[in-house]
Amino acid sequence: MEQPAIHETLEFQNERLILIDQTRLPGEVTTLQCSTVEQVHDAIYRLVVRGAPAIGIAAAYGVCLAERGSRTSYLSAMDYLATSRPTAVNLFWALDRMRQRLDHCDDDTKLYEVLVDEAVMIHNEDRKMCHDIGFEGAALLGHCSRILTHCNAGGLATSTRGTALAPIYQLHEQGSQVKVYADETRPLLQGARLTAWELSQAGIPVTVLTDSMAGSLMRNGGIDAVIVGADRIAKNGDVANKIGTYPLAVLAKYHSLPFYVAAPSSTFDESLESGDDIPIEERNREEISKQGEKWVVPDKAEVMNPAFDVTPAHLITAIITEKGVLHAPITSIQAEFRSYRD
Ligand code: MRU
Repeated sequence: MEQPAIHETLEFQNERLILIDQTRLPGEVTTLQCSTVEQVHDAIYRLVVRGAPAIGIAAAYGVCLAERGSRTSYLSAMDYLATSRPTAVNLFWALDRMRQRLDHCDDDTKLYEVLVDEAVMIHNEDRKMCHDIGFEGAALLGHCSRILTHCNAGGLATSTRGTALAPIYQLHEQGSQVKVYADETRPLLQGARLTAWELSQAGIPVTVLTDSMAGSLMRNGGIDAVIVGADRIAKNGDVANKIGTYPLAVLAKYHSLPFYVAAPSSTFDESLESGDDIPIEERNREEISKQGEKWVVPDKAEVMNPAFDVTPAHLITAIITEKGVLHAPITSIQAEFRSYRD
């Protein structure tokens, strides 16, 4: 079947959600078309679409693919999509917005249009958010030319430009000589496959590191700052992000380097007091024990595969949001950074 051309990570065209298939990058640039709620759920679970903001947008469009005009189908689509991944709060935030729009619409003949309208609004707000974080972050990172990042918090993880990578795109456009070090990010290699792919497409110099290299690079004076995204930020400012983020924050502290988190206010979860309360997704054994067709862990050995870890607020220099910057010491998320639903 012919592949529809898309310009961003995800697009809604002709009652279909079209996704860049991130499981196939960088080898193949292909799209996946979803026309059912189940296909969207599967795409989120398999990381065809991934990254906290992109998951939220995909789920919002996914709701629109339920049986047209059926309130009960839309509601069960919301419940079902909420089971696709547990950690990124943007998923639940977007589904809550969809539910609120549904609840406020009395006319069942208009439900589809109203839901598509809300999903498009979430998508458009995300584009603006990426640009705003880019400006806020570029002002902070202006003096840094060698920036380390982990996982992928770029255009592929959002509608466009990303969160952690948005300031880097901004600096590059302003003519700064910025160079990125991308942790490969075991086990699914979002740094090596995705961050390195999108930055090289944009002509931004990028070097891929194994996850264990960051410490010695910092010790040798090769890094000016670290910037990462977030999947959920608790009320006290603790941040859940891709596994391997916490050790980077510890290393940054030890080497007196700034450690920045870039995230939209939709990633804040004020219902959780601290990072200890954030649900951490445990993924399957094969992601670690198998490399391609090759088994790399003996059958009898156990495997741990948490997809995220929690970085305590006291290790964070600043949290960059679309509404402004929270500087250290971060002890709580302030009222002005609250998300839409509050
Ligand atoms: O498992 P993933 O690839 O969805 O994990 C993504 C991350 O950890 C990102 O850093 C985070 O979602 C922020 S994306 C702007």
